[in-house]
Amino acid sequence: MRRKIIIANWKMYLSTRDAILLAGKYNHLKSPHKVILAPSFTALSGVEKTIRGNGLKLCAQNIFWEEYGAYTGEVAGLDIKQIGCEYVILGHSERRKYAKENYETVNKKIKLALKAKLIPVVCVGENLRERRSGHAWKVIERQLRIGLKAVDKKKVIIAYEPIWAIGTGNAEDPIDAERMHTHIKKHVGKGIPVLYGGSVNGKNFEAFLTQKNIDGLLVGGASTKCKEFTEIIS
Ligand code: PGA
Repeated sequence: MRRKIIIANWKMYLSTRDAILLAGKYNHLKSPHKVILAPSFTALSGVEKTIRGNGLKLCAQNIFWEEYGAYTGEVAGLDIKQIGCEYVILGHSERRKYAKENYETVNKKIKLALKAKLIPVVCVGENLRERRSGHAWKVIERQLRIGLKAVDKKKVIIAYEPIWAIGTGNAEDPIDAERMHTHIKKHVGKGIPVLYGGSVNGKNFEAFLTQKNIDGLLVGGASTKCKEFTEIIS
């Protein structure tokens, strides 16, 4: 199997202390894949120190679209770059749902991330209603069009995460996911990595990783379980 990209999205599941402890457990692991940890902001610095030099990479879960300034509660892309982040997740459906983000703001964040020399991991995905009405591709095509407007697509990673599959235990069928990834690649370009996310676990990860157009995984819940995630990355 060729080398894939596997991102552990720890969301707001772990305390800073627990995130650093968990990162420490992956220190001696050898993975054939590129493994990237995405802890919450408060844990980034500690996790960076823990994984330094062992091949694991660091990712933030969000940034603000302005460089610096009077933006109470926001976090600057340049700042997280400085503490050792190489990647940032943008447009996750949980941010679109709870923080009311949209693809216009995601587009601004992507541009800022690229300016800060971070690699944006841009999330797209349809909800259940859109899926059932047969409009999934139309929805994703729109998300990509607005989100990636005037962006150099060669510099981003896309994560296809059907909203109905996130955290539900009800993952997309790997063959259907492969079909969607093929569509996405036709739109953004063949060489752009497209990851799958949504209820990936220790039982189903291989069925996704063996698909030709699935370049890796964005793993939420299962990535906080040491044994299960170890199985996925090794
Ligand atoms: P899940 O989350 O693996 O818990 O479904 C994936 C994600 O939201 O990135």
